[in-house]
Amino acid sequence: MSIQNILCVGAGYVGGPSMAVIADQCPEITVRVVDINPERVAQWNSDTLPVYEPGLDAIVQRCRGRNLFFESPTPDHVNAADMVFVSVNTPTKSFGHGSGQAADLQYWESTARWLRPHLKRGAIVVEKSTVPVKTAEAIATILHYDRPEQDIAVLSNPEFLAEGTAIRDLEQPDRVLIGHGDSPADQAAAQALADVYAHWVPREQILFSSVWSSELAKLAANALLAQRITSMNTLTALCERTNADISQIADAVGHDKRIGPRFLQAGVGFGGSCFRKDILNLAYLCEQEGLNVEAAYWRSVVLLNDHQTDRFARMIVEKQFNSVAGKRVVIFGFAFKPGTNDTRDAPAIRVCRSLLEERAKLVITDPQALEHARQDLAGLAGGITFEPDPYRAAAGAHAIALVTEWPEFAALDYARIYAGMEKPAFLFDGRNLLDAAALHGLGFNVYPLGRRARTHL
Ligand code: UDX
Ligand code: ADP
Repeated sequence: MSIQNILCVGAGYVGGPSMAVIADQCPEITVRVVDINPERVAQWNSDTLPVYEPGLDAIVQRCRGRNLFFESPTPDHVNAADMVFVSVNTPTKSFGHGSGQAADLQYWESTARWLRPHLKRGAIVVEKSTVPVKTAEAIATILHYDRPEQDIAVLSNPEFLAEGTAIRDLEQPDRVLIGHGDSPADQAAAQALADVYAHWVPREQILFSSVWSSELAKLAANALLAQRITSMNTLTALCERTNADISQIADAVGHDKRIGPRFLQAGVGFGGSCFRKDILNLAYLCEQEGLNVEAAYWRSVVLLNDHQTDRFARMIVEKQFNSVAGKRVVIFGFAFKPGTNDTRDAPAIRVCRSLLEERAKLVITDPQALEHARQDLAGLAGGITFEPDPYRAAAGAHAIALVTEWPEFAALDYARIYAGMEKPAFLFDGRNLLDAAALHGLGFNVYPLGRRARTHL
């Protein structure tokens, strides 16, 4: 089966970049990305894309209007499609049964209901968002209602891209995973999807599994990564008390080939749209199966992550003589990690809330995420200023709290910053980005995480 027309429903962080790369790598395939939010569509058609990803602009420039289109959804889109990727949002439920834990599948379900009457025979529907185990089955039930099963194949194809490196991850993925059913039609559909990826991904990196395993593998990968970061974070407090250095520990354990060096960077806690959501989802699935001990294990990762963020916020208050009321505290970095404007579940939100409760005057600076920061903190009481220039942000400040390790922050002139700050000047490095000894030499009282503090007090 040869795919000529691809439709993607949902032009978000997953749908937009992944379809742009497919369009770029497969010039003979027409890719249409639709979104119910007309503003999103307009942004994708403008010079300022709604998603900030290094390398994305160039690809969109190359392909948009050639074989890549961003549009508002119509039944004709569905009719024309050989393959439909669904990458609508699947946030954590905020109401009813499973609130705060289970995935909210209303967008997925309404998409399936909308697609069903318009899909042509032999169409392939690909589940592209992170969704809990057995969703594909539920979606297939909706799609197959009233229609013979062989009419529409449902595949699971989880996206493993990380934000900030989305284009590299899409162009050179560690693996592509395709979950499919046993029928000949399902197997042919899986092959057709593999053929799309084979335009640029070596065949041996395209893995096949059952639909359930594919869905669960996505949750498992994120849960393992988050748990690994959390394991390192739990060691930071011990390091601070015993004068060990968490970076040296990461280096030492990372040299063990069985462990490997990546994702061992301790910090204020993980954020982003996936880790917390997926772990809570996994815990919920365990509980649904009566696996309470397993559920508690995974849930503890989220609890410890919040604990680490709170510990950092408490440190900022405690070290400044137990009070930040009325003090100007500058937050260096609001995005959940560098290289993105995304602030979903960013630890900075939790840190800011905590400091506002302590009546600090906050100044937020971030190279990309100030607009989102403004939305995230809207309605919170207290003084908050948003300042793109880190030098202006730090002028007159009592303390700097580095929450996101943007390389820009490492390149600043800290002598200049120190000169403009209130004294004693405090610097809390929540990502161990900066050279603590050098900053201490300039006069700062420096508090890294998982390393000894360097103070003049
Ligand atoms: C993650 C997965 O990596 C990706 O495979 C999946 O598809 C989506 O979820 P993402 O959320 O974009 O990607 O970012 P990631 O790079 O994994 O970082 C997540 C969080 O962990 C960030 O807040 C980051 O600061 C933190 N982190 C990461 C650490 O604290 N230490 C590390 O060593 C690595
Ligand atoms: P993700 O990180 O999973 O890509 P986003 O929230 O960034 O999530 O993007 C999901 C997109 O899906 C949003 O732009 C939203 O407007 C869109 N969306 C949700 N429901 C539908 C639907 N029924 N039809 C089309 N687009 C939808």
